[in-house]
Amino acid sequence: MILRKAVMPDVEAIYTLIQQYAEEGLLLSRSRLSLYENLQSLTVAEENGRVIGVAGLHILWSDLAEIRSLAIAPDSKGKGIGKQLVLQLIQEAESLGIARVFALTYQVAFFEKCGFQLIQKESLPQKVWKDCMNCKKFPTCDEIAMIFYIPSLVPVP
Ligand SMILES: CC(C)(COP(=O)(O)OP(=O)(O)OC[C@H]1O[C@@H](n2cnc3c(N)ncnc32)[C@H](O)[C@@H]1OP(=O)(O)O)[C@@H](O)C(=O)NCCC(=O)NCCS
Repeated sequence: MILRKAVMPDVEAIYTLIQQYAEEGLLLSRSRLSLYENLQSLTVAEENGRVIGVAGLHILWSDLAEIRSLAIAPDSKGKGIGKQLVLQLIQEAESLGIARVFALTYQVAFFEKCGFQLIQKESLPQKVWKDCMNCKKFPTCDEIAMIFYIPSLVPVP
C-alpha cells in the first residue's frame, strides 16, 4: 500500500468510494466538479493499482485546515490505512505551516486514536460556516467536531 497525492485518472474511483458512504449518510457527497477543482487537496491510498482510500486537506484559514472526504474501501477497513491517511494529512498541514487540523465526523473513537480531541463546533471560526450554509445538513448538523493541534506549531491546550 502506498499513499500519494491524487491525480486526475483517480477521480472516478474516488467519486465512487465517497458516493457509497454518502448514500449511507456517513459522508457528504462530492460532485465530480468539486473533485476536479480540489484535486490538489486529495491524497489516496493505492494497492495493486487500485484506489482503496482517500482523504482531503481543505485549507480554511492561516492556522486551520479540515480533513474532508475520508473514506476507506469496505474490504480495506481495519488495517490502519485510515489512520495512516490522517497522519499523512497532518504532516502535510505541518509542512504548510498550518497549526490546527479539524474534522466534522461521526467517527469519534477513530479520530481519538489519531490524536484528535473533542471541541465545541461553535468554537470553530466563522469561516467554517460559509461551507455549512451550502450543506444539506445545515442547520441541524449532528456531526461532532474534533481537532488536532500540531505540537511544533501551537501549544496543545
Ligand atoms: C472511519 C474510517 C475512515 C476508518 O478507517 P480504517 O482504515 O478502517 O481505520 P484504521 O484501521 O486506520 O483504525 C485506526 C484505529 O481506529 C480504530 N477504529 C477505526 N474505526 C473505528 C470505529 N468505527 N470505532 C472504534 N474504533 C475504530 C481502530 O481500531 C484502530 O485502532 P488501533 O490504532 O488501536 O489499532 C473508515 O471506517 C471509513 O471509511 N468509514 C466510512 C466513511 C467515514 O465514516 N469516514 C469518516 C468521515 S470524517
